[in-house]
Amino acid sequence: MTAPTGAQLTGAHLAGAPSTGTQLAGAMPTPVDPMRSRPFRVLAHHQDTDDTVTLRLEPADGVPLRFEAGQYTMLGALGIGEVPISISGDPHAPQLLQHTIRDVGGVTHALVHARPGALLDVRGPYGAGWSALDGAGGDVVLVAGGIGLAPLRPALLDVIAHRERFGRVVVLYGTRSPADVLFTGELEAWRAADVEVAVTVDYGPPGYAGRVGLVTALIPRAGFDPGRTLALVCGPEVMMRFAAAALVARGVAADRVRLSMERNMKCGVGLCGHCQLRELFICVDGPVLTYARIESLMQVRQL
Ligand SMILES: Cc1cc2nc3c(=O)[nH]c(=O)nc-3n(C[C@H](O)[C@H](O)[C@H](O)COP(=O)(O)OP(=O)(O)OC[C@H]3O[C@@H](n4cnc5c(N)ncnc54)[C@H](O)[C@@H]3O)c2cc1C
Ligand code: FES
Repeated sequence: MTAPTGAQLTGAHLAGAPSTGTQLAGAMPTPVDPMRSRPFRVLAHHQDTDDTVTLRLEPADGVPLRFEAGQYTMLGALGIGEVPISISGDPHAPQLLQHTIRDVGGVTHALVHARPGALLDVRGPYGAGWSALDGAGGDVVLVAGGIGLAPLRPALLDVIAHRERFGRVVVLYGTRSPADVLFTGELEAWRAADVEVAVTVDYGPPGYAGRVGLVTALIPRAGFDPGRTLALVCGPEVMMRFAAAALVARGVAADRVRLSMERNMKCGVGLCGHCQLRELFICVDGPVLTYARIESLMQVRQL
């Protein structure tokens, strides 16, 4: 197993990590403990769909958690455990920490049932983000599958905050059924900000007038210029593989296609090896990686 370098524990990966104390001018900087967690209080609980909830959290110590779009935290339910969850909030409004969580197992079940007033443990933020502003001067396409829209939301809000610097901004979003569409209250606001939003579902009930089919099928005809496009993709790994291949087939360079990878994570800081994918530690080298870098590794099973 490749040992993580010290450099992996510094810089952008720890951007926004909580400071451990007051730093006086001229004094030695206080080392940051990347494993330290902080209590956050649930302020609001919003049931997005049958199995998915968005929590808004405030720091109990009042210090906001600054983050880059695409980063995640290790979010813990006291006495149950902690899991990696991407931040779904607005990077320009870090006063409230927002997470959108699908109930799939023990820890996520406890998290989606956390009610206002409850305290949750938060470590981070961790990992490499989308850096969506790299797409300024050209088009941006965001391709989301299911809960993958949550980690992409901060990148979209980042782009909208600098809308005049981009050409066409396109969101292609596929999910299981109309009842599983996330952030329904925001889609119109995104369109009003000059974002083209196309939603497709795997299964439409009788009479459903929207698009039915895979999100990858939208890529060949979507309105972006592949030669000047940055593509951000998040969803189940198989969906990301097909979406990235379709983007490259359309003419987007593989190093301009960014994917958010999921692997089992324990430490989040490059120490335990749970997330290792050949030479990469997804927790610190990712989760956002270019397709050019990850394509040959996407078939490797996780530990
Ligand atoms: C960087 C990163 C960001 C993530 N962001 C989000 C997010 O924004 N919202 C969200 O709901 N989830 C997110 N996840 C997935 C989340 O971490 C897992 O769903 C969680 O760890 C499951 O833990 P559990 O104890 O609830 O379930 P477990 O009992 O551990 O697992 C229950 C079931 O879920 C499956 N599972 C476990 N981990 C994953 C995974 N990573 N992906 C897919 N299936 C899994 C298991 O195979 C099992 O079938 C993210 C994961 C990573 C690595
Ligand atoms: S090395 Fe521990 S989660 Fe990545």
